[in-house]
Amino acid sequence: MHMSVKQQIPKEKGMDNTLNLARKGYLYIKSNTDTYDSDLYETRLMGQKAVCISGEEASNLFYDEDLFQRHGAAPMRVQKTLTGVDAVQTMDGDAHRHRKQLFLSLMTPDHQKHLADLVRERCQVSISKWEMEDEIILFDEMKDILCWAACRWSGIPLTEADLKERADSFSEMVDAFGAAGPRHWRGRIARPLIEEWLTEIIENVRTGRYEAIAGSPLYEVAFHKDLEGNLLGIEMAAIELINIIRPIVAIAIYITFSALALYDYPEYKEKLKSGDPSEQGRFVQEVRRHYPLAPFLGARVKKDFTWKNYDFKEGTLVLLDVYGTNHDSRLWDTPYEFDPDRFKEWQENLYSFIPQGGGEPAKGHRCPGEGITVEMMKTALDFLVNQIDYDVPKQNLSYSLIKIPTLPKSGFVISNVKRKS
Ligand code: HEM
Repeated sequence: MHMSVKQQIPKEKGMDNTLNLARKGYLYIKSNTDTYDSDLYETRLMGQKAVCISGEEASNLFYDEDLFQRHGAAPMRVQKTLTGVDAVQTMDGDAHRHRKQLFLSLMTPDHQKHLADLVRERCQVSISKWEMEDEIILFDEMKDILCWAACRWSGIPLTEADLKERADSFSEMVDAFGAAGPRHWRGRIARPLIEEWLTEIIENVRTGRYEAIAGSPLYEVAFHKDLEGNLLGIEMAAIELINIIRPIVAIAIYITFSALALYDYPEYKEKLKSGDPSEQGRFVQEVRRHYPLAPFLGARVKKDFTWKNYDFKEGTLVLLDVYGTNHDSRLWDTPYEFDPDRFKEWQENLYSFIPQGGGEPAKGHRCPGEGITVEMMKTALDFLVNQIDYDVPKQNLSYSLIKIPTLPKSGFVISNVKRKS
């Protein structure tokens, strides 16, 4: 009898490697694929078989909707903190594409410009406050600025008195998803409070007690209809509204890393003074490639298939290495060096540069908010370079690659802030 010879793919030793993942953080998948010299390996994570994959070919595979589905892939601990339960991230097929269109319709260049104007306005107002303080923590300030701007832009009423608490809650949901212990639980507690707050607002919009402007994210989410023509359940509408505001607040992480890069590579601070958009663009891309934010993504095999001689079985959990693909030496020269100029030569590619996922946003799960992210980062960058002067006092600027998500330990303290004349 003829038997086909299947290549044995590497298997990570151990009954369960969840602890190993927790110990290696952002480097978990890549350290194994490097050791095994293989784009894929089998392991056991969270009590189940899982296949980890890394690199451009892997990301191309992962976004094949015929082969993978999202339903049943995200762990409850992530849904109860980061994404919300049963939201857009867990949908598939036509229903997903329809829901996705709602998000994409709110991320147009006009929307981006409106949001950027608000961020700029609030940054300007903040300078006077900062000039009176010895020092400020940039991450904390940016989180509040972005939360204020995101709520204004989307039409969500938010008082100055509530701003800080709400901004903290959005940020805690992000901080919680990869964490254990108090960090995790702060996010678990923050989410229902925000869901309750926004559920009430959406209810008021639907009954006309609160007037939302047509075209605003609040209005469009409140009156979005599914493929059957039904309004979203009120809790789901709140969850999807959070899926717009929370990640805007999270851009504070990238802005903090941008400030770190300006400090560590002062030559770019000089270059960026001219306000040259392509210089800004390359810097922002390199911040998104170089610094860690999303570690990896999960999906389940939809139907059996073979890739690189390995049989993927229906239902198997597959993790795509986001951080490792952005640091793959086959795609990026000296991948651990910060070098915005690498983007001068770069050929745009949907699968090799995946800080916010791969593939096309309208067809698959790639982040719809990349345009907004890039625009807000450019706005903040110009602000840091051209609108204020500041000192960077001695502090712990190191960031962990084990902790998910991560940030420079000090949150980036700046002192002697002055408005540039
Ligand atoms: C802070 C910067 C951001 C990062 C690092 C980021 C990263 C990601 C990643 C990795 C995904 C998953 C892609 C996948 O599952 O294949 C995603 C999805 C998503 N992001 Fe972002 N994102 C950011 C900002 C934003 C912004 C500003 C928005 C909206 C204003 C947004 C809204 C979403 C939504 C709604 C999804 C789910 C898409 C889907 O499942 O179809 N994100 N993002």
